Amino acid sequence: MKKFSLLLNVILIGVIAYGGYKFLIQGSVKATDDGRTAIMLTADERDHILGDMRGFLETVQGITEALGQGDLKTVADLGTAAGSAAVEAAPAALIGKLPLDFKTLGMDTHGLFDDLAKTATESGDVAKTTAALGDLMLNCTGCHAGYRFDVEGAGK
Ligand code: HEC
Repeated sequence: MKKFSLLLNVILIGVIAYGGYKFLIQGSVKATDDGRTAIMLTADERDHILGDMRGFLETVQGITEALGQGDLKTVADLGTAAGSAAVEAAPAALIGKLPLDFKTLGMDTHGLFDDLAKTATESGDVAKTTAALGDLMLNCTGCHAGYRFDVEGAGK
């Protein structure tokens, strides 16, 4: 009986550890033939994140235009708006599908928009702020090189 309950405990701990690994670290992913990792989402989840992405691009467009005009106040305002203030609580189901690396990179990107706003305000220097935008965009290009979204059950 003792041996049995020990075995049961080991199995249980294994199941919990596996569940935690799947939920927090691995996410719901599939290998693809274009070299990126596909994150499997429902169509709604994908549409929601892609909407956020288009928001990112609009922010980067606005920041670039303002940099060209030397308008660092607008740069700081746009950066702050896309910073940690813009982070909304995602539904648990979606959090469970996103790999840890993806979540970390996403959160870091919002933090870098805060930093960009700070650089614009504190340095008042267009070249320095442009360099910070270039660095920030390494997060965009890095993540895009590694991941894509596929819709669950769409037969891909
Ligand atoms: C944590 C990962 C990650 C980061 C960081 C990220 N993206 Fe994305 N983005 C994606 C993925 C994944 C897609 C979907 C690509 C696919 O399915 O082919 C995407 C798609 C997009 C799209 C297409 C939207 C559409 O409607 O199809 C745009 C535009 C975009 N991203 C802009 C940006 C910009 C600008 C940044 C940086 C400020 C950024 N993204 C940062 C992961 C990321």
